[in-house]
Amino acid sequence: MDYIFETKDLTYSYNSRQEKPSLDSVNVKIRKGARTAILGANGAGKSTLFYHFNGIFKPASGEVLYMGNPLDYSREALSVLRTDISVVVQNPDEQIFSATVEDDVAFGPMNAGLERSEVEKRIQESLFKVGMEEYRSRPTIQLSYGQRKRVALAGALATDPKVLILDEPTAGLDPQMSQEVIELVEQLCVAGTTVIISTHDVDLAYSWADEIHVLRGGHLIYSGEPEPFFDDHVGVASAGLVMPHTFSINSSVQRIRGNPAAPHPRTNSQILCKMLPGGSRTGKIRLVPVKDSIPEVPGGGVPRGVYGSRVRRLFREGGSEPDYHFNAIECCLMEAVNGRDSVLFVDDSMKDRVLEVIGAMDRFGKRIEVVL
Ligand SMILES: Nc1ncnc2c1ncn2[C@@H]1O[C@H](COP(=O)(O)OP(=O)(O)OP(=O)(O)O)[C@@H](O)[C@H]1O
Ligand SMILES: [Mg+2]
Repeated sequence: MDYIFETKDLTYSYNSRQEKPSLDSVNVKIRKGARTAILGANGAGKSTLFYHFNGIFKPASGEVLYMGNPLDYSREALSVLRTDISVVVQNPDEQIFSATVEDDVAFGPMNAGLERSEVEKRIQESLFKVGMEEYRSRPTIQLSYGQRKRVALAGALATDPKVLILDEPTAGLDPQMSQEVIELVEQLCVAGTTVIISTHDVDLAYSWADEIHVLRGGHLIYSGEPEPFFDDHVGVASAGLVMPHTFSINSSVQRIRGNPAAPHPRTNSQILCKMLPGGSRTGKIRLVPVKDSIPEVPGGGVPRGVYGSRVRRLFREGGSEPDYHFNAIECCLMEAVNGRDSVLFVDDSMKDRVLEVIGAMDRFGKRIEVVL
């Protein structure tokens, strides 16, 4: 099994006066390429764990392994490590040091010794991805909290890391931007980046993660697929968490009907599929992979969604407005479940992933026809 990170009996205290360590003998194994969420209540130790992954903190005892090798805490080794791993910390003020937005985003690529033209490209692309391209010359001090959070993320994206670690990436962001962050993260996962996020947003973790690791009071209390964890009411409550909405609605409905709760839907469209009568009509999704330009699509009048930052940019440059900017796969699936057709424009690189997501509806009792 390929683990990107592994900790062995990782123990850490911020100071000697602490009664209990902030991390206590944590043995966590994070799979390469898995969509991973670290869950836990306030103070559970999520951020403390993240500071160990890029060597900012050194364990009081135990060790941290990256790709099977114990971290080397020498200055040179750490600077090499940090070209692979980018951590976006919870509080953007700990991350943003430059006077202007563009200088801040340029910092990582410049440090990596990239050519000026490549740095310029990275600045433009990453600011676009977080919706901050218009703020490029702004002093960072004049930004709102959420805007600083976006700039911190852009800075990490600009370094094109192998591993992206995001501490509470959506906290403080507006709902559209939260969904865009998840979409960005999805694109990175498809491109082979390992993404690890920490969150206490159980709905986010449940809809996105392949694997969760749950911390409680500095202890790791669960590692694995989300369902068995959320099925244990007592465990969830003792971790200071709550059940995700989709999980609890599904459990209630299946209990009322006397059906098994599995397979567990993770999205609203999946729940609806499970609840709808067998013979009800579903709509088709016309999937349009986009490379360099938006192709003409026959049959107007049906809702159009966009998924992926390239197609989003092309739409904006072309001055046309899609019906679904955000969470577009789910929006088109909802149309389909409601018996209506839709068109979904996706970045070419995301096509297989989108087909996989649409195909997953089969498990919930509805086949959604895709027209390519
Ligand atoms: N700078 C610090 N000095 C002393 N103790 C600290 C410091 N930072 C965190 N702690 C303690 O370490 C424990 C773990 O904190 P940590 O910030 O890792 O939690 P978290 O899971 O990230 O919480 P949150 O959801 O609030 O971000 C907490 O008990 C906290 O009080
Ligand atoms: Mg934290």
